[in-house]
Order: sequence, then structure tokens, then C-alpha cells
Amino acid sequence: MEKLVILGAQWGDEGKGKIVDLLSESFEITARYQGGSNAGHTVVVNDQKFILHLLPTGILHEHVVGVIAQGMVVDLEVLEEEVKNLEEKGIPVKERFIISDRVHLVMPYHKLLDSLFERKKGIGTTLRGIGPAYMFKYGRRGIRISDLTDEKRFYELLKDNLEFVKNICEKVFCENFSLELEEIYEKQLRIYEKFKNNVGDVLQFFMKNNKSVLFEGAQGTLLDIDMGTYPYVTSSNSSALGLSNGTGLPPNYFADAYFLGVAKAYTTRVGEGPFPTELKGEEGEKLRELGGEYGSTTGRPRRCGWLDLVALKYAVQVNGLHGFVITKLDVLDGFEEVKVAVAYEYEGERIEHFPASYSVLTKVKPIYKTFKGWKRSTKGIRNPEELPPEAKEYIKFIEEYTGVPVVMLSTGPKRDEYLWLREILKTRSSYS
Ligand code: GDP
Ligand code: IMO
Ligand code: MG
Repeated sequence: MEKLVILGAQWGDEGKGKIVDLLSESFEITARYQGGSNAGHTVVVNDQKFILHLLPTGILHEHVVGVIAQGMVVDLEVLEEEVKNLEEKGIPVKERFIISDRVHLVMPYHKLLDSLFERKKGIGTTLRGIGPAYMFKYGRRGIRISDLTDEKRFYELLKDNLEFVKNICEKVFCENFSLELEEIYEKQLRIYEKFKNNVGDVLQFFMKNNKSVLFEGAQGTLLDIDMGTYPYVTSSNSSALGLSNGTGLPPNYFADAYFLGVAKAYTTRVGEGPFPTELKGEEGEKLRELGGEYGSTTGRPRRCGWLDLVALKYAVQVNGLHGFVITKLDVLDGFEEVKVAVAYEYEGERIEHFPASYSVLTKVKPIYKTFKGWKRSTKGIRNPEELPPEAKEYIKFIEEYTGVPVVMLSTGPKRDEYLWLREILKTRSSYS
């Protein structure tokens, strides 16, 4: 396989990191193309845990070249820290990634604005400055990494931005503004100096390197700025819609790619916003505890609920998915029964599509189909024949409902805790 796109099919944290790590073994390049350090992609290798925020997860494999493409917003301080942490853990990455010269930078004042806006709006963001960085980009006020090649220009852009933010801070929020121009200027240039050899033209890089690529989506379909549960979304196209504008590659480049959606066997969401199948009582807490559902980036408890097939089918349509990986099946191992939403009820009517309207989404009631639980461990099963029949039935129903095959199951956080139901590419049967 030459091109694989891995996307979150729910509200993020589906276990994309684990799956990208597993599958990027077979690719030469792994690229991220939207979002920024709001992402937290967890990989567990030999009991060592890595959480990647900016670098593509595939970079953990020493033969992989990482790409930070133009659609991302990059916080240089986070990048510096991430590279340092990985290198301290014995994974040299510095010489193995390229940052698009078109990426916009996340500055300290974007993080400040993120926290000020949160006071009024309460989206429950990760406070990583993502929304304000994209606001500046689309408002044509952003600073791109290539602006740092011209120190005078960078200084002027920064000065203009700081005056603008100072006004918002003092006049709109009546807050003291204490960020220093010189300090930000020096720090950004110092870090840029470290990474300037990593900065390049990503389009030319792809044109020159006719190699196999894994594209790693961050967040998930329902957090997409256009297709998600607006305004409770992130500020980029985190569905397949973000691929072309995020990489700078034309849409037909992806025509022969395999689109793989990652979904948990249940549903979680972190932050505010509509969540039709949310379980607020004991069952939700049980899912949270068994699934260890606390944010990888912020540590916040994730809201939990049953699998929402209406939403999953929508993810198939929005992304053109060819297959699913269902993760965290093991978390359902102890349940007497498990449920999936097959439709919603809205004002007495049954609806089977995922609605756009916030007002509708907050009022819909899920209509469930109940399955008998399998009540035994699925952890570490490698042979599909050994799966409990009830688990097989659960997976079969997901396939029938969504019209898309479940190609892989993940049954634990570690690299080798997975099984193919239909092998779409070769993985080593066991990692050390
Ligand atoms: P991502 O943002 O989609 O990469 O997902 P996160 O890393 O934020 O969250 C997924 C969490 O589930 C991490 O703690 C993973 O280590 C863990 N995880 C991934 N797959 C499985 C699985 O199949 N079973 C269990 N129990 N945990 C998993
Ligand atoms: P990964 O890649 C889960 C959520 C935040 C908030 C909303 C907007 O690890 O799946 P933002 O900081 O982006 O402006 O926050 O989006 N969010 C995520 N939720 N996983 C993520 O990334 C997320 N990135 C952002 O919680 O609700
Ligand atoms: Mg995550």
C-alpha cells in the first residue's frame, strides 16, 4: 500500500496514535497536516509510554521521515520540548522531520487569548492556543515560520500582533497585559535557529520523494470545523476534508489512498458540546475507569457513552472510509450488556442521519439496540476464531450498519495487542 489515511471517526482520542504506530512500520513517510499540540497521541512500547503532540507518531520508527505539513499550527516551544523528550528516551528525531515553510506559529498570546475566550464561550478547549492561531491565519494576521527568516519583518509582525492582543486584553477583557515583545522575539528566534534546517517546501518534498506515505489525522470527524458539532469543535478540518488544504497536495493525489477510520468500541468526548449517547451515571463512570478515559493532553476526565452508529455512519460518509479499526474492545469485556445507538428520536420522529443543528443535537434521544455482553477477556487474542461469539456479533453489526468492514480490532494499549479481521497490509506478527 502506497498511501494510507488514518482518521478519527468520533470526537478524538480513538486510539489513532496506537494504530498509526503499528501501521507506520510499513511506510517511509508519516505526515500530520492539521491541528497542533491540542493532539495527544499515545503509544505504549515495551511498557514505555510516549505521547506525541506535534510530531507525527510514525517518527518512533527510525526509518520513518516525519512531515509537519502546512495545515498545522506549530508551537515552537512544544516542538523543542517534544524533540528533547524523545531524544532523551533514545529516539533520535531531529534529522528525520520536515516542517512546511508555510505553517503558522502558535504564539504565547494565542494561548492567552484561548484562555480569555474560554471564560466567555466555554468550549472546553485544550488551551493550546489553537483557535486563536487559526483566527489569526484566516484573519491574515498570522506569522508563518518562513517569516522568521527575515528578522526585521518578524519583529514588525510581532509588534503589530502584540498591540492588537493588548487592546483585546485590556479593552475587551479588562485584564492586565504583561507579555513582552523582546522576550517572545528572542525565544522564537532561538528555537527557530535550532530547527531552521528542518524547514522546507513540503510540496516539493512530496514531488521529489515518490515514497509510501501514512497521513495521520488528529482529533476526529465530529470535531471538524465544518462537519463537526459546531461550535463545539476544533478550528481545523479534522475529517478527510482537511487533507488537501492541510498538505498542499491536490485532491486527486488521494484518489488511490486507503481511508481507515479509527473508532472506539464505545464513545468518548472531552470538553463541552453535544454527545447524544453520553452516560452520566454509573455506567459512564465504569467506562471511564475501565478505559482510563482521561485526556492525554490535559488530563481532563473524558465523558463516556455507548457506541453511536448514527455518528459512525456519518463519519463513513464524510471521510469516504474504506475500513474501520475498532479500538478498546477489551474495555467492554466485563459488561453484562452493551448498547449501540441505531437512530435518534427527535420530537417524536425517528431520525437516522447526524443532524447539523446544535439545538436538534442537544435534544435527540438515542434509540438503542442491546447486545449480550461477552463477559470474558479479549486482551491479547490474535486469532479471530478465538473471539467470543457475542463480540463477533457486535462487530458484525457495526459492519452491517455502517456498510464498511472492520479490518482490525485493538484489545489493549500495547503495540502487539491487536488482531486483523481482514489484513489490509502486513504487520509484524509480534513486536519485541
Ligand atoms: P488518540 O488521540 O486517538 O491517539 O488517542 P489517545 O492516545 O489520546 O487515547 C487513547 C488511549 O487509549 C491511550 O491511553 C491509549 O494507550 C489507549 N489505547 C489505545 N488502544 C487501546 C485498546 O485497544 N485498549 C485499551 N485498553 N487501551 C487502548
Ligand atoms: P487527538 O488528536 C480529543 C477538543 C477539545 C475541545 C475542542 C476544541 O488527541 O484525538 P481546541 O484546543 O482544539 O481548540 O479544543 O476540541 N479536542 C480534542 N479532543 N482529542 C483531541 O486530539 C482533541 N483536540 C481538541 O477538548 O472540546
Ligand atoms: Mg488524544
